[in-house]
Amino acid sequence: MNLHDSSTPPLGGVELLRAENLSHSFDYPLFENVDLTICENEKVAVVGVSGSGKSTLLHILATLLKPQKGSVNLLGSDIYSLSPKEQLAVRRYEIGIIFQFHYLFKGMSGAENIEIAALLSETEPDIELLERLGIEDLMQKRVTELSGGQQQRVSIARVLSKKPRIIFADEPTGNLDDKTAHIAMDAVFEHIEKVAGALFLVTHDERIAKSCDRVFRLENTRLERIE
Ligand SMILES: Nc1ncnc2c1ncn2[C@@H]1O[C@H](COP(=O)(O)OP(=O)(O)OP(=O)(O)O)[C@@H](O)[C@H]1O
Ligand SMILES: [Mg+2]
Repeated sequence: MNLHDSSTPPLGGVELLRAENLSHSFDYPLFENVDLTICENEKVAVVGVSGSGKSTLLHILATLLKPQKGSVNLLGSDIYSLSPKEQLAVRRYEIGIIFQFHYLFKGMSGAENIEIAALLSETEPDIELLERLGIEDLMQKRVTELSGGQQQRVSIARVLSKKPRIIFADEPTGNLDDKTAHIAMDAVFEHIEKVAGALFLVTHDERIAKSCDRVFRLENTRLERIE
C-alpha cells in the first residue's frame, strides 16, 4: 500500500465520506487536490502546524464551508449540491461537530445545551455519558460558570447526544488533562463503533492521533499519510 496516497482507505467497507480534489486558499494556498475517503468504523486523525489549514479542511468536510475546488460526499450525497434544507438535515441528523471553540449557548446551563441538541436530533441525552465525563454534577451551572475543560466536555456530550454517524472533532481535548482527554476520546471511539460511524479528528496530541486507524499530516498544501 502506498502510505502517501491519502485516498487509500485501509479498512474498505461502506464509504461514509469521500472528498475529491479539494483545494482551498485564503492568504496562501492551504491545500491542493486533496482526496480523502473514510469508511464505516474508521477513525482518521489529522495533525499539522498551526495555520496549516486543519480547521478549514474540517469545516469543508463538515458541510460548513464550500471548497473553492472539489467535492465532498457524505453518506452518498454530494453535500454542496444539496439545497440548504437538505444540507441542514445532514447536519442535524447525520453529523456531529466538536469545534475548536465550544460554541455552547452561554446563557444556558450545560443540561439545557445538551437537551436542545438532543431535541433537534430527536434523540435522548445520555446521562451515563455525563457521569463518565465527570460533568453530571455541573449540569445546572450556566456555561459561563464552567471552566474551559468543563465546557469542552459539555460540548463533547452535546455532540454524542445527537448520536451522529460521522463526527468531526477539532482539537476536542485541547483543554483537558491527559486522563480526562482519554476518557473523552474513549467515549467518542465507542460511539463510532456503536453506530458503525466515522471520525475525522484534528489533534495536536500525538498519542490520541496514534490511537486512530490512519494519521495524516497537513503540510505544504498536501495531506500526507504518516501512520
Ligand atoms: N475565514 C477566513 N478568512 C480568511 N483567512 C482565514 C479564514 N479562516 C482561516 N483563515 C486563515 O487560514 C489559515 C489556516 O487556518 P486554520 O484555522 O484552518 O488553521 P489550523 O491548521 O486549524 O490552525 P490551528 O492549529 O492554529 O487551529 C490561517 O492563516 C488563517 O488565518
Ligand atoms: Mg484549527
